Amino acid sequence: MLKIAVFVSGRGTNLGAILEAIKQKKILAEVKFVVSNKKECAALNSAEENGIKTYCIGNVSKSDYHSYEDISNIFKNEEIDLIVLAGFLKKIPDDFIDSFENKIINIHPALLPSFGGKGMYGMNVHKAVFESGAKVSGVTVHFVDKVYDNGMIISQKCVDISDVASPEEIAERVLQQEHKLLPYVVGKFSENKIKKIDNRIIVED
Ligand code: GRF
Repeated sequence: MLKIAVFVSGRGTNLGAILEAIKQKKILAEVKFVVSNKKECAALNSAEENGIKTYCIGNVSKSDYHSYEDISNIFKNEEIDLIVLAGFLKKIPDDFIDSFENKIINIHPALLPSFGGKGMYGMNVHKAVFESGAKVSGVTVHFVDKVYDNGMIISQKCVDISDVASPEEIAERVLQQEHKLLPYVVGKFSENKIKKIDNRIIVED
């Protein structure tokens, strides 16, 4: 069974979508840990309600916070297979990325490589998409490397936004698709159907 850790910073609806897919047995996986850079956030509360072990990471001067090194050791001891960044707003340190090469994925609420990079998160993304006049937005799930939103793309889903009247409307439409694409990709990892061939990521049927 695929052992997952999910990193969060806010609402946690994507975490919820993964947990729901596991509950419904659409994915053979277990969320072992939920990690947040914020002690107070809805995502951590919902993890606790689901009986999942949680950790706070980053600000080690505060009590109850763990260093990336601590978390890395915990993940290695527990043989975590996949780390999912689901609305995690901090940049992951390079050492941590090196320790889990090809095991960290992120969900981004637009079609990368457009509308990504530093500062492009949450409503900032949807506002930029709206202001661009683009008729299509979407969701990207990609591997995490040392540059913001730059790692290899695993899967994408387009969302028609030709008739939207606000960035909020884009956010709403995109989020619905996020909740489908992320469990789909995690499921593919659990079936070992994500392959790297000639520098491209292939998702097998
Ligand atoms: C999502 O839009 C995700 O794409 C982005 O952050 C948001 C997190 O939402 N990386 P939630 O916390 O999962 O509800």
